[in-house]
Amino acid sequence: MSTVIKIGGALLEDPKRAVSAIQQAIHGPTVIVHGGGVQITRMLGKMNVQAGFVDGLRVTGETALQAVCLALLGEVHSQLVHALNAAGMPAVGVFGGVRAKTKEGPWGLVGTNVDADPELLLSLLAIRRIPVIPTLALGPTSMLNVNGDETAAAVAVRIQAGRLIFMTDVQGVKDSEGSVIDLASNVDDLLSATFVSGGMLPKLRAVKAALSGGVRVVRVGKTRFAGAS
Ligand SMILES: Nc1ncnc2c1ncn2[C@@H]1O[C@H](COP(=O)(O)OP(=O)(O)OP(=O)(O)O)[C@@H](O)[C@H]1O
Ligand SMILES: [Mg+2]
Repeated sequence: MSTVIKIGGALLEDPKRAVSAIQQAIHGPTVIVHGGGVQITRMLGKMNVQAGFVDGLRVTGETALQAVCLALLGEVHSQLVHALNAAGMPAVGVFGGVRAKTKEGPWGLVGTNVDADPELLLSLLAIRRIPVIPTLALGPTSMLNVNGDETAAAVAVRIQAGRLIFMTDVQGVKDSEGSVIDLASNVDDLLSATFVSGGMLPKLRAVKAALSGGVRVVRVGKTRFAGAS
């Protein structure tokens, strides 16, 4: 039974810390999907590009997509693959294993309907490699910026992973009082809750997609989600 770990940009600011978090969670065949929100924002700043968020997803024009490539592939992806190997984990960078369609709406070069190549990923797992997937997908006419959480859920469903773990910069999903929720039995309630916002929204949508796609164990940090059965 394989595991998909999604690791977010804030944790990846310190690749060594990210690697030790991954090392603690890993057992058995594992695919890693990484974001890079913080690093992308920093690169956009350096390039003087404005890119706002709608519904927790970044609006991405052509120059913004260049910034995404630079930050995600040039910085986060390469450093993470290297740091994992330096810590003795046989990670291999996989760009091109995820496709997407352009998302309808105000987002520009943003993809949705993410689909992963299961043969590619399963063959790497079979030879005991750890595929590391950046959240940049191949689209019909360009690369597309895809949300890391949606990508992780799509990968988990496609390879029929048993576990999907979202590692982020918070301990878990917090309730209205700011305490981390241990067990969440209704994702829809959380999605409409006033205390859930920003990047947690696409994450919870991804939790829902993974559970309904048959992934048995789904966690955001310490928060565990009760599956359908
Ligand atoms: N109820 C909530 N509980 C916990 N975090 C929440 C909640 N509502 C909003 N958040 C925000 O969601 C953030 C996590 O999502 P974010 O998209 O920033 O991280 P990520 O997905 O790990 O990184 P990346 O987008 O780079 O992959 C937290 O830092 C927190 O600010
Ligand atoms: Mg996010």
